[in-house]
Amino acid sequence: MKKKESIIKYYKKQSGFYDITRPLFLFGRSIIVKWIAETNPKGLLLEVGCGTGHLLKLLARNTDFVLTGIDLSSDMLEIAKRKLNSSVKLYQTDLTDFNPNEKYDAIIFSYVFTLELDKRKEQIIKAKQLLKPNGRIYVLDFHRYGSTLYKRYMNWHGIEMGVELLQLLESEFKTEKKITKKAYFGIWEYFLYEGVNEKYK
Ligand SMILES: C[S@@+](CC[C@H](N)C(=O)[O-])C[C@H]1O[C@@H](n2cnc3c(N)ncnc32)[C@H](O)[C@@H]1O
Repeated sequence: MKKKESIIKYYKKQSGFYDITRPLFLFGRSIIVKWIAETNPKGLLLEVGCGTGHLLKLLARNTDFVLTGIDLSSDMLEIAKRKLNSSVKLYQTDLTDFNPNEKYDAIIFSYVFTLELDKRKEQIIKAKQLLKPNGRIYVLDFHRYGSTLYKRYMNWHGIEMGVELLQLLESEFKTEKKITKKAYFGIWEYFLYEGVNEKYK
């Protein structure tokens, strides 16, 4: 089975209990919203892999952005639709196939890259094409495993961590902010990143 199909299948099963379980390990989501709210939060914002709309809901409450979310999974989007105002645009699509007429002031990826880590370069290039010059990218994701046992567990869930993701972001954007944090005293680390699309190609 192709990775894209396995992601859709995985989230079909997970969507029913996603919002109850994820606060236990998808850390940093309210911090990244705080970062976004601290900049000049207006214009157009795209969330890639918006899932059940957790972040979009927080962003609608805390910023003046016109919001768009895209996701591969119709099951996740169905939940997002129920929780969001109809002014938030939602599309079922792979990032690779998303070709809107507009460009965005900000793009956020929250726990998306590590589902297909080998596609990080391609996805970052696509994000740059979708961003306005000087638009901002926000990324929140797993950074490194604390043990091989945990690595095996996360790989079983289809997640591949690698510190090179943060390095690649830093080489493609002008870094404004970055932090890494330990989860559960170091079982894993996650990072938050804010960059500017200054090296516009
Ligand atoms: C771990 S969930 C994160 C959801 C949300 N961003 C959050 O922080 O709660 C990852 C989501 O990304 C979506 N996704 C993964 N790869 C994608 C891609 N290439 N294009 C669009 N959505 C994608 C999955 O379907 C899933 O809903």
